[in-house]
Amino acid sequence: MAVAALMLAAVLISVGTTPAYAQATGGAPPVSAGSINTGERPLAGITDSNDAELLRALKGAQGQVTIQDEKAAVLIQPQGRDWRAAIKGPVRVAGAWLVLGMVVVLIVFFLMRGRITIDKGFSGRTIARFNGLDRFTHWLTASSFVILVLSGLNISYGRYLLLPIIGPDAFTGLSLALKYAHNFVALPFMVGVVMMFVLWVGHNIPNKYDFQWLAMAGGLFSKGAHPPSKKFNAGQKIIFWSVILGGAIISVSGIFLLFPFYFGDIHDQQLMQILHAVFALILISIVLAHVYIGSLGMEGAFDAMYTGEVDENWAREHHNVWVAQVKGEPVPGHD
Ligand code: HEM
Repeated sequence: MAVAALMLAAVLISVGTTPAYAQATGGAPPVSAGSINTGERPLAGITDSNDAELLRALKGAQGQVTIQDEKAAVLIQPQGRDWRAAIKGPVRVAGAWLVLGMVVVLIVFFLMRGRITIDKGFSGRTIARFNGLDRFTHWLTASSFVILVLSGLNISYGRYLLLPIIGPDAFTGLSLALKYAHNFVALPFMVGVVMMFVLWVGHNIPNKYDFQWLAMAGGLFSKGAHPPSKKFNAGQKIIFWSVILGGAIISVSGIFLLFPFYFGDIHDQQLMQILHAVFALILISIVLAHVYIGSLGMEGAFDAMYTGEVDENWAREHHNVWVAQVKGEPVPGHD
């Protein structure tokens, strides 16, 4: 019985390894002692206990292939271990702190400041702020971003957070669906970012009001303080440029990941994967602040992206220079 089990194991092992050899060299094992480029010790005869030591010592192991895919000749790429350690360690840990840290900051801010209300209350008169195309672009970008965030977070953290709760079967099915969602929803997000840039870049060039806004922290921490501002204040410009530049980096690196090895080698793939994860996590935490202030955090703000109309008192408190320009009134402080 034991012999039969051993023979079965031997057959399974040989079946498991043969195709890889065959693919690489047409039947012969691809790596010989002489082809290991450190030349420090022969591969033949290593035992399990010194495998780890050998792998650490190796600068890489490369053989020869006759198929039209030179990547297949690389059997060991030690940088891969550094890359995996970086992703699983510092990137994911720091990213979790960043995102959770922002959630905590927003909760503390809400508890201390409460909802920022319109000082003079609703006037009952409205001003057009965003047209249909603006709002379509915003919600295209926002809804695709939310799907990308949820599906992306599942890729990074799902196995730690969801798998223990819903079990392997449900987690496998869900992850597969979310992975497809992530791949396909990337396109509308990229389109949205490009449209946002084209539509709003003109309002997001820094101007003199931005310094004052930043110096007063936008009046966010003190009731009744309203620094002057055109259509977008400095805080919104930070959000805008974060979405545009962060979105561009995430999009370009995402294209590398969507089409592996079309645009670069394994080093480029690894670099792009790190950039994708790092900038996605940074952008998530920034956008969390935006979502808060655009909904729960500030009275009257959401209407701008819902109906496209904002209350005049809200507009005068937060964007007084813009209101004056729209209504043809004297501009406060003369631009
Ligand atoms: C899902 C919840 C969201 C809500 C409730 C929300 C709400 C808003 C509101 C009310 C505005 C207009 C502010 C104004 O009148 O000046 C706005 C603008 C903007 N939104 Fe969102 N938004 C959301 C998600 C997102 C997402 C996910 C992104 C990008 C990934 C985004 C990017 C922008 C940008 C770039 C602007 C213009 C700059 C700014 O006002 O900060 N939004 N949003």
